Amino acid sequence: RRGVTDIPVVVHVVHNTPEQDVSDAQITSQIDVLNQDFRMKNPDVALVPAVWQSIAADSRIEFHLATRDPLGRPTNGITRTPTPLRDFDTDDAVKFSLGGGQDAWPADSYLNIWVCQLRSGLLGYAQFPGGAAATDGVVITHSGFGTTGTAAAPFNGGRTATHEIGHWLNLRHIWGDDGEGCTGDDFVADTPNQGGPNTGAPGFPKTSCGNAPNGDMFMNYMDYTDDAAMFMFTAGQVARMDAILDNARAPLTG
Ligand code: ARG
Ligand code: ZN
Ligand code: CA
Repeated sequence: RRGVTDIPVVVHVVHNTPEQDVSDAQITSQIDVLNQDFRMKNPDVALVPAVWQSIAADSRIEFHLATRDPLGRPTNGITRTPTPLRDFDTDDAVKFSLGGGQDAWPADSYLNIWVCQLRSGLLGYAQFPGGAAATDGVVITHSGFGTTGTAAAPFNGGRTATHEIGHWLNLRHIWGDDGEGCTGDDFVADTPNQGGPNTGAPGFPKTSCGNAPNGDMFMNYMDYTDDAAMFMFTAGQVARMDAILDNARAPLTG
C-alpha cells in the first residue's frame, strides 16, 4: 500500500428514542476525529512522552461518509432505522433488520459503523478481519460516539471508534489480552510488554511486567484509558494495519 487510503464509511443509526437518533453533526464530529487520529493530526499527540515521540505514527488512512449507496444512488452515508429494542448486546442483532437493527452494506466496499444504545456500559465492539461480511464493522454506543450531541465524558473524544476501528484493522489490545499477566502479546514489537488494561488517566511512567523505566504505553489507542488520555498508534501498529490493508481488507483500498 502506498500513499493515503481513503475508506468509505456508512453510519447506521439504530434508535429507540429521539436522543439515540444522533444528529448529522455528531456523526461528522466522529469522522473528523478519525481523520485526525489515523493521520496523527490530533493536537494531543504532542502529549506523547518524549521517549516514544519517534515511534508515534501516521497510519495514512482517512475516512469519508459514503456518497453512493450499494445500488450506486447518491447518499449522505447515513442510514436511520427505528427499533423496538431498548438496547443492544454484542450478539450482532443491531446488524440485521430481522434482529431489530439494520443490515450491513457490502463489507468489501464500506466500513459499516452501527450507532445504537449498547447495554450495561459497553462502549463499543468490533469484528476482526476474516469474519462474515454480514457482521463486519464496528458498533459504538451513541454516548461514546463523536464529540457533540449525546457524547458524554469521559468518552466524548471520539476515541471509542478509533479503538474499535483499530481492531477492525487487526490491532490487538496493547496488554495482550492475558488478564493481568505478562505473557500476552499484541504482536507488535514497539509497544512495551504490559500487564493488564489501564483505565482513567494514569501518570507517566506507570510500570508493569518489569517494563521500567518507561512503563506501559497507556496513551495508546489500544489501551482502555479515557478518551483524553489516549492519543497514539505506533509504527509497529501501522505496519500491522498496512499488512491487513494489503490482504484481507485490500478490496476497500479501491
Ligand atoms: N471495547 C471497549 C469497551 O467497550 C472500548 C474502549 C474504548 N476506550 C475509550 N477510551 N473510548 O470497553
Ligand atoms: Zn478493544
Ligand atoms: Ca499482559
